[in-house]
Amino acid sequence: MRNRVGILLLFVSAFTFSAPWLRAQAAKPRAAFDLIQWNGGKFIYGVDYYPEHWNETQWEKDAQMMQAAGINFVRLAEFAWVKMEPVEGQFDFGWLDRALKVLNAHGIKAVLGTPTASPPAWLYAKYPDVAAMDENGVRYRYGSRRNYCLHSANFLAATRRIVTAMAEHYKNHPGVLGWQIDNELGDPICYDASCRAAFQRWCRATYKTLAALNKAWGTIFWGHTYLVWSEIPLPWNTLGKAYNPSLALDHRRFHSAATHDYLKLQVDILRQISPAKAITHNDMGMYDGVDYSVLNQPLDFVAWDNYPMFGEDYANYFGVSLAHDLIRGSKNQQNFMVMEQQGGLPGWNVFWGRQAAPGLYRAWSYQGVAHGADGICYFRWRTSRNGTEQYWQGVLDQDSYPNARYQIVAQTGKELGKLTELLQGSKVVSSVALLVSPDSRWAFRIQPLVNNFDYNRQLGLYYAAFRRLGFNVDVLFPQSDFTSYKIIVAPSLFVVDKPLAEKLAAFVKNGGTLVLSYRSGVKDEHNVVTDQPLPGPLAELAGVAIHDFDPQTNQEQEVVDVEGERYPARVWFDVLDPTTAEVLATYSKGYYAGKAAATLNRFGQGSVVYMGTEFSSPAAYSKLANFLAGQNGMAVGPSLPEGVEMAVREKAGKKILFLLNYTEKTQAVALDQAYQNALTGESEARDVQIPAFDVKVLTTP
Ligand code: GLA
Repeated sequence: MRNRVGILLLFVSAFTFSAPWLRAQAAKPRAAFDLIQWNGGKFIYGVDYYPEHWNETQWEKDAQMMQAAGINFVRLAEFAWVKMEPVEGQFDFGWLDRALKVLNAHGIKAVLGTPTASPPAWLYAKYPDVAAMDENGVRYRYGSRRNYCLHSANFLAATRRIVTAMAEHYKNHPGVLGWQIDNELGDPICYDASCRAAFQRWCRATYKTLAALNKAWGTIFWGHTYLVWSEIPLPWNTLGKAYNPSLALDHRRFHSAATHDYLKLQVDILRQISPAKAITHNDMGMYDGVDYSVLNQPLDFVAWDNYPMFGEDYANYFGVSLAHDLIRGSKNQQNFMVMEQQGGLPGWNVFWGRQAAPGLYRAWSYQGVAHGADGICYFRWRTSRNGTEQYWQGVLDQDSYPNARYQIVAQTGKELGKLTELLQGSKVVSSVALLVSPDSRWAFRIQPLVNNFDYNRQLGLYYAAFRRLGFNVDVLFPQSDFTSYKIIVAPSLFVVDKPLAEKLAAFVKNGGTLVLSYRSGVKDEHNVVTDQPLPGPLAELAGVAIHDFDPQTNQEQEVVDVEGERYPARVWFDVLDPTTAEVLATYSKGYYAGKAAATLNRFGQGSVVYMGTEFSSPAAYSKLANFLAGQNGMAVGPSLPEGVEMAVREKAGKKILFLLNYTEKTQAVALDQAYQNALTGESEARDVQIPAFDVKVLTTP
């Protein structure tokens, strides 16, 4: 019975949330959530804690050490399904109640993770269909985590059972603030029969008739025309991965929608049984398997997992900032929290990279706050003695010694405590935005264009150029509100439907500046190439036509701007024919030397820049950002040395300025006026000196 209800619910929810025309509705802004108020007026400062991994006699000492470090929050239980439901239908929350009691007694409140990312072995053994199937038709084996099938009726029933039991048990618990749904939703994509049938249902809900689907997908190519819905395949491992890109894009949308529906299934249970408790989920920053701008809408606030040192790239601080901003943008620019903030050196079977200076852990936490985080929770309290993550350091190592990371975490906790009143209610305000198109990201995953194309790299190049000038940058999605921005950069806007083209045209008409780059307007919403001159529906807006392009055949290409400055270029070269646009720069090499590489078009009250290529040096992007700031009358910020970031939060006309030094030497920034140091209360010299790995939090007096 339960299973049948599950299938019905899933079918209904597929209709409600998966149809593309209903997406904008799903993304309606909700009232802003005040995280600090939720945490009883305290800035959320926490650790991810696994009491079940440690001897119960250690809990009291742990809680004391947490409290001494200013910790007032823990996330618990997100992988503890087997401990809470050791036998099917039999629950044991005694251990969690006891852990909560110890923590609560030290002023520490909790978010509980629904444990569905890591189902128990007994569930897989009893119901083999719980495991997802890979594209070769092989089911994943038990032994890791995150490999369940989103359409397994048995898994959905088990999910409902454990989530309901947790909600019932903790609905009135004063020490439980709320819920984290699952953990890092998104992977894997399952290719089994239940998922195929669900995809066919999704197609039917989306296209209504097979004739419409066949037309939209252009299935006459290779004669892949479908006569009954059940013939529709998944984009599984075919010879040469040769499947229809239209089908593949819809399949990505379907998986994203199914992930949303799975989250929503849990949200609905929790809201019904424990309406007073807030709900969040921990996203993965730049991860693109799921459209976060849709996934996050049912949540009260969004959280994400931030490991700045993934790999060895210490210098990529703008990459981390971009991820913070994307997460904020995925939930209508509302403040968020970091649910897993790097608390030590990451690694699984080997350590990845070298140890960070203790000060960097503090700088990374402030970086999150500077970009709108109202909560920082470190992963994890203590490095595990067991399992896969013995080399993934927590704040403490296995010996619990109050090491340098603990000391810096404690220092940061005390400081954030002092800053709470100032931070509460403050927001990131931006005039510049980056438009992220989930459809374009997926279409580029399906057909990556050329080998060294990277959508996120392009986002990063434009982002960094504006950030180096001291501008905050918001991240927008197609359904976001565009109206409050002066400049929107939409790199490689590959897939464009009519509503988006019209929305961008209205933005420019009303005085906005739009930046487009190569391979924009190439595909319609079905991932089918336009039959109009490129950039398709954006051609009139950009004032150019593109009748020729050169994909990375000439690695040595160079672009010269109207002032004679030369910039190396790479990846792709659109040869631009201006129709109404003026030329900003031309190519200097090859048979198209002298042809336009970048243009500027006036349209309505605004303007559109088209960048036909990607530059290998940041200088070209800095010049563009400077130029556009000037055009829009936007004053650039102070000169920032390499390795120093500035970000601003605002509250009632007051600016909170964060200057973050990620380098191992003292750096200086000359500000336009004297500010007050928010931590010391003293006034700060205009020439601000920021010691190595240090942070200045300044306010306008
Ligand atoms: C992710 C997960 C955590 C942990 C860390 C470290 O962010 O959410 O559970 O596994 O990675 O591997």
